[in-house]
Amino acid sequence: MTNQFSTQAVHAGEERPKPHGALTTPIVQTSTYTFQDTAEILDFMRRKEAGDELQQVDYGRYGNPTQNAVEGKVASLEGGERALLFASGMSAISTTLGALLSAGDHLIMAREVYHRTHDLAVDYMTRWGIETTFVPIDDLAAMAAAVRPETRAIFSETPTNPYLSIMDLPRMVEVARAHDLATVVDSTFATPVNLRPLDFGADLVIHSATKYLGGHNDLLAGIVVGSRSLLAQIEEARGVLGGVASPHDAYLLLRGLKTLDLRVHRQNESAQRLAQFLEGHTAVHRVYYPGLTSHPQHDLAREQMSGFGGVVSFDIDGDIDRTSSFIDNLRVPYIGPTLGGVESIVQQPVMLLSLDPAEREAAGLKDNLVRYAVGIEDPEDLIADLNQALDGI
Ligand SMILES: Cc1ncc(COP(=O)(O)O)c(C=O)c1O
Repeated sequence: MTNQFSTQAVHAGEERPKPHGALTTPIVQTSTYTFQDTAEILDFMRRKEAGDELQQVDYGRYGNPTQNAVEGKVASLEGGERALLFASGMSAISTTLGALLSAGDHLIMAREVYHRTHDLAVDYMTRWGIETTFVPIDDLAAMAAAVRPETRAIFSETPTNPYLSIMDLPRMVEVARAHDLATVVDSTFATPVNLRPLDFGADLVIHSATKYLGGHNDLLAGIVVGSRSLLAQIEEARGVLGGVASPHDAYLLLRGLKTLDLRVHRQNESAQRLAQFLEGHTAVHRVYYPGLTSHPQHDLAREQMSGFGGVVSFDIDGDIDRTSSFIDNLRVPYIGPTLGGVESIVQQPVMLLSLDPAEREAAGLKDNLVRYAVGIEDPEDLIADLNQALDGI
């Protein structure tokens, strides 16, 4: 039986019946697993070395029943064979790239990716002998031209953080397939409600599950979804690098995932309304939202996405201080990093980046940029609040 998305969000990955007849998946709060005797260990080792997919593990760094339920659910929502859960989105990204690439290999990355992913490539992977070429996300010719004999993979986000640029996934996959490269897509901003990169032929999809998948601003986690063979390689690396999610965070994530479809549809609708309102306000210079016809990649976004997500970025018509005044005038959203939860959160990205203007400029972020991550509050309240905050500057 092939269930629809929201049915999968509730039921996929969950054992049925569950231990003790419980309705919810228990938090198996253990760091290790014990054996009755040596014969049981030998049987476990025989099955493991024969390559059986075991439900049983011997130690919490290799798995946990609460984590397994999350992995099963997200694999189903993304249409992948398997998923692997991590302690954070960055742990998922760094472990995946660490598993795929070796010293001497070359990676192509969209220039607009999340700044910490960029830092991973520039500040760390170079030290491990892996070189990265950054290409503009909308320049597929530059991507094709960047391929070298030692290129192994292409990494992109879509939509990107914070400018909401879109990667043309079919064309990215076409470039990759022509050269036998792996494709990795950070789909944190889209969620599987709006986009399923594997359906476009991507090899791996990654999420910061801290954001929409968890949805309640109360956990950190990351997840990778893809084929059994690629995930076996990444699972081995996770066991060594050690970035597993805790059973308790896995439980919170499992609970959050059940309402993913409801939350993201609401956030899509509200963000579209906020974006349209902002575009019509004289104190706003420019709005970045793929659901607006003014977005340079609106047609591409419409072709590959079924909704445009809950983040709206915009430039205030003014300098850094006028932008801060606007942020300080807002009454409903919290001020801070992160996005994707039930509470709206707003930030002026340069403020949390650095106090040094040169460093801020190098990061490519404008002083007057605002990133507004829409929660599930009533959109009328959010718009009235935006209106008073803009009118007050
Ligand atoms: C697009 C994107 N990818 C990855 C990450 C990193 O995720 P985490 O904070 O869970 O490590 C973030 C965090 O903001 C993000 O926005």
